[in-house]
Amino acid sequence: MKEISGNTRLFGILADPIHHVKTPQRMNELFAKIGFDGVCVPFHARPDNLAAVVDGLRRLENLGGVIITMPHKTAILDLVDEVTPVARKIGAANVVRRDADGRLVAHMLDGEGFVRGLLTAGVPVQGKSAYLAGAGGAANAIGFALVQAGVSRLTIANRTPAKAEDLKARILSLHPDAKITVGTPDPAGHDLVVNGTSLGMKEGDALPLDTSRLTPDQLVCEVIMQPKDTALLLAAQAKGCKVHYGAPMLACQIELMAEMLGVVPTK
Ligand SMILES: NC(=O)c1ccc[n+]([C@@H]2O[C@H](COP(=O)([O-])OP(=O)(O)OC[C@H]3O[C@@H](n4cnc5c(N)ncnc54)[C@H](OP(=O)(O)O)[C@@H]3O)[C@@H](O)[C@H]2O)c1
Repeated sequence: MKEISGNTRLFGILADPIHHVKTPQRMNELFAKIGFDGVCVPFHARPDNLAAVVDGLRRLENLGGVIITMPHKTAILDLVDEVTPVARKIGAANVVRRDADGRLVAHMLDGEGFVRGLLTAGVPVQGKSAYLAGAGGAANAIGFALVQAGVSRLTIANRTPAKAEDLKARILSLHPDAKITVGTPDPAGHDLVVNGTSLGMKEGDALPLDTSRLTPDQLVCEVIMQPKDTALLLAAQAKGCKVHYGAPMLACQIELMAEMLGVVPTK
């Protein structure tokens, strides 16, 4: 990292608790790698103080922006000047850019990180059919990003089907021509199979979909990073499928955040 000086651009991450965050480390690595005069630091803000903290950050002339994580991803939407259409539809944001005039613009990069992760692994999603298990926070972001990136059709399956229907309706309100159906645990007939649920984090979790229906031509993808090899990915490999791990989704977001925050040019 360059020596911090009066010219250094400031970035932060807002979280509560804060001790576990890894984004500052990754952002600072990137700044060092590209020789950017910036620093990213953890900002511990409790929910009750979020509005006051954001109001203060808005007035910091040398602030480039902030990363937003739990539990602030939804509350931040009411505290900024602009919310991108996709973040508005998802109902959450994980990055806020501060423009030169102090305007704060919020966006959600979780889903784009997932799609960029696939692209980096040599898998463009355009034209592919996709099956998405889940309709929570991660699945919402991935559903929007898959459609935005041009999948030929999207099937959403969730334990609570009403949430899948709601996600379908919100994606269609931004992408009226998209082909989206609410499905069952059966992922057969899709090029990409994505676990967007939290199932697989804990030992003994049920599988998020019916793995007996997987076929070797499918690529099975995770959002879960820990454990790396979830029961789903192990079952998929046993069926002869290729797999895509959860880590690239986060790794690629560092790059996307740097783009959104004006640190590197947009790809
Ligand atoms: N790799 C990354 O960069 C990244 C980024 C964000 C999140 N994640 C991971 O994504 C996972 C999901 O996070 P989230 O924020 O989306 O959580 P969330 O909003 O709580 O959503 C959880 C999802 O899992 C489903 N689910 C939970 N327990 C279930 C069960 N027993 N049976 C069937 N379905 C169940 C829920 O279904 P219902 O709607 O029916 O409750 C919902 O669809 C977590 O593991 C998180 O760590 C990874």
